[in-house]
Amino acid sequence: MKTDLPQSFRRLEYRPPVYTFDQVELDIALDPARTIVKSRIEVLPGKSFEPGAPLVLVGHDLEFVSLRINGEAHRHFELTPETLTIHSLPNEGKDKFIVEIICVCVPEKNTTLMGLYVSNGNFFTQCEAEGFRKITYFLDRPDVMARFKVTLRAREAECPVLLSNGNLINTEKLPNGWHSATWEDPFPKPSYLFALVAGKLECIEETITTSSGAKKLLQIWVEPHDLKKTRHAMDSLIASIHWDEKRFGLELDLERFMIVAVSDFNMGAMENKGLNIFNTKFVLAQPETATDADFANIESVVAHEYFHNWTGNRVTCQDWFQLSLKEGLTVFRDQEFSADQMGSESGRAVKRIEDVRLLRQLQFPEDAGPMAHPIRPDEYQEINNFYTVTVYEKGSEVVRMYQTLLGRDGFRKGMDLYFKRHDGQAVTCDDFLMAMADANGKDLTQFKNWYSQAGTPRVKVQEHYDAAKKQYQLTLTQSCAPSPGQPEKKPFHIPLKMRLITKANDQKEQLLELTQASQTWTFDNVEERPVLSINRNFSAPVNLDFEQSEADLLTQFSSDDDAFNRWEAGQKLAMQMILNNRLPDAQIIEAYRNILLDPNLDPAFKDLTLTLPAESYLYEQCTSVDPQKIFTARRAFRREIAKQLQLEWAALYQQMQTPGPFKSDGVDSGKRALKNLSLSMLLEAAPGVWAPMAANQYQIADNMTDRYAALAALVMHGAKQAKECLIDFYNRFASDALVIDKWFGLQSSRPPVDGLDSTLEEVKKLREHPAFKLNNPNRVRSVIHAFCANNPASFHQADGSGYEFWADSVLALDPINPQVAARLARALDRWRLFAQPYQDRMKAALERVSACQTLSPDVREVIGKALG
Ligand code: ARG
Ligand code: ZN
Repeated sequence: MKTDLPQSFRRLEYRPPVYTFDQVELDIALDPARTIVKSRIEVLPGKSFEPGAPLVLVGHDLEFVSLRINGEAHRHFELTPETLTIHSLPNEGKDKFIVEIICVCVPEKNTTLMGLYVSNGNFFTQCEAEGFRKITYFLDRPDVMARFKVTLRAREAECPVLLSNGNLINTEKLPNGWHSATWEDPFPKPSYLFALVAGKLECIEETITTSSGAKKLLQIWVEPHDLKKTRHAMDSLIASIHWDEKRFGLELDLERFMIVAVSDFNMGAMENKGLNIFNTKFVLAQPETATDADFANIESVVAHEYFHNWTGNRVTCQDWFQLSLKEGLTVFRDQEFSADQMGSESGRAVKRIEDVRLLRQLQFPEDAGPMAHPIRPDEYQEINNFYTVTVYEKGSEVVRMYQTLLGRDGFRKGMDLYFKRHDGQAVTCDDFLMAMADANGKDLTQFKNWYSQAGTPRVKVQEHYDAAKKQYQLTLTQSCAPSPGQPEKKPFHIPLKMRLITKANDQKEQLLELTQASQTWTFDNVEERPVLSINRNFSAPVNLDFEQSEADLLTQFSSDDDAFNRWEAGQKLAMQMILNNRLPDAQIIEAYRNILLDPNLDPAFKDLTLTLPAESYLYEQCTSVDPQKIFTARRAFRREIAKQLQLEWAALYQQMQTPGPFKSDGVDSGKRALKNLSLSMLLEAAPGVWAPMAANQYQIADNMTDRYAALAALVMHGAKQAKECLIDFYNRFASDALVIDKWFGLQSSRPPVDGLDSTLEEVKKLREHPAFKLNNPNRVRSVIHAFCANNPASFHQADGSGYEFWADSVLALDPINPQVAARLARALDRWRLFAQPYQDRMKAALERVSACQTLSPDVREVIGKALG
């Protein structure tokens, strides 16, 4: 029997704050075992103020020491594990008054990595979403924005560097080997943007001049041995700053902008004002240790956090339900930035395909599962569970649709108006929509449904061509399956770019706005039956129900002028064949061959085109998933492409070499991607023949992309050389945690291979490895998440052994780090979609976790919703 029901928070229950804060002064004496936090807060009546109302502050895992009001000790308060409620305020709280609190926290015991914690002997904070309350009692909500002045004190020998938000205004030597630094942030901010960092760190720095002619200091702080790996992050930061000026007219507003890298971090990075804190994974890179994908990820995460300075910090969220206001918009901005960095139209298309592929692999399943939520959720139990691919990636697609509907200039006008109206405020997604609507005189009322309804819409396509009338009719019908709490859906406003492909090539691209449940468009003077190219460049995040003949798909695959749809036609052809358990026929092999041989196509595009749809995306096309059947069919299809095109792969492997010094740009990385796909395909075709070439590439590689790809090809195809290369790899990079994560991750990702131990057995050994640590999120993700969430064919075993391992892991992680545990818990979200015996075994594992009496709210919510 459950003792208490989980607490839910609801969007419609939002109330403005009763009190608000003006100036906040913090004095923090850092000690891993006992950090003393003194706060001095100027309190004012807020929008919901009523005379006599108590001041209710939140605090978590804190030791309360003392409270003063207007300089006097104050006894009228109540403490609970979550709150400090202060009564009997001076003049019923009507005038400004000063609250002073002293409390204590214990950073070295904090394994949740929220609030103040210690990593490798240094201090870091993570306050979004609700971590600040683990540092001191506060109005820890985004609509309370205060000016912060922060004094940090620490022993100088242990913490020579003391950083916080804003500008450094004072440093002092103190008795007993202590010292202090005082930082002042001129911009009011919510507590979730507070940060401090202290410890033994060093930085590279650079001074740049921004558009107004102001000089700015940029710094990247890391552990001393990592300094040599910071150049790429710095270059990415400088490029981001210039891009935001050019594309959106947004300038860096602080004199100093700092990035700090930490190896224990729950997520990717955090946009604290002027002091971004990053997972080392998204800062550190050099060619010998980082892959092309790492370089690209660093560029986009650095940009993302920098862009938050305007979309998130200058204009922030009223409440956490509005998270997509800043996250969807900022992902859109970083995607556009990265696309521009590719330097060509074909590069932009490659970036678009990669983003859509990710969306469909991860977000579409989420939107069809038990945790489905609108990009603006209406209810949550634990906000940390809502930093999702829906809020971020689908949120970005929604922002992209504004740009598609309004044009680039119209979108810019909307952004300008948004900042003009809301700079310095905490606002809602409606405010963003209204700025877009008002700036363009466009009615976007129906567009709001994208914010309120979950689920991926389906658009059914019906065509009719009348040869006599030379008339083409297109009927589009939209629907959206029920999602939790939303049995029925209203029609969405769906922008669909389309073009009729004809031999005469006489039809223009158009934008159709599907707003009704069903609509028909008529096109005149169409001289022949056209091939329809619709949802070009993936203009809307929908599933298309479009029965196309193989001949039409082949036409699109060979000649659609929209690179996305060209790629998509190939994916659709492959998907249909795989799901029907068919091998590629002569026609599609020929089409693949033509793509591979086409001298005008971007190598990166070829790589994407010859990469088959992921298993997780294939699952979503089925009503009852047999994961082993899908794996076998997909693998057989791949092997056939590998064999039939073996000569082409071998030739490409030679042609795609990139001589000269390593460059991580779009051109060279595209060539490496195609070269390494070729290598993998050769091993797929004939492992015995080609493994020595992979082993050779492994040995002679001068960069991680090539070394890792060779190792991966050996491991994935079960080549006998894999073992000794894995040993070599570990020894070579033993001191580099991020590379060792790759070593773990690769082994946990290996699909089943005949004649080898099951991957589960390997993973269990890896978990006992001396370098495995359950309290380091990157390591846990590289072993446990890689297996449970990214290795479907090894994970989904009919005996349920994978699910048992999953349950053990969730239960072991939860007491250490609920956020990381809750992410892992999501791996069984789609259990109802699976065939037997998988489904029952997943359910049993979920029930075993659910039976634990001490689950965190994080894991409780995920499991509760999965079983609900
Ligand atoms: N705002 C950060 C980003 O966009 C994510 C921080 C989330 N952290 C968390 N503990 N939920 O990159
Ligand atoms: Zn973000």
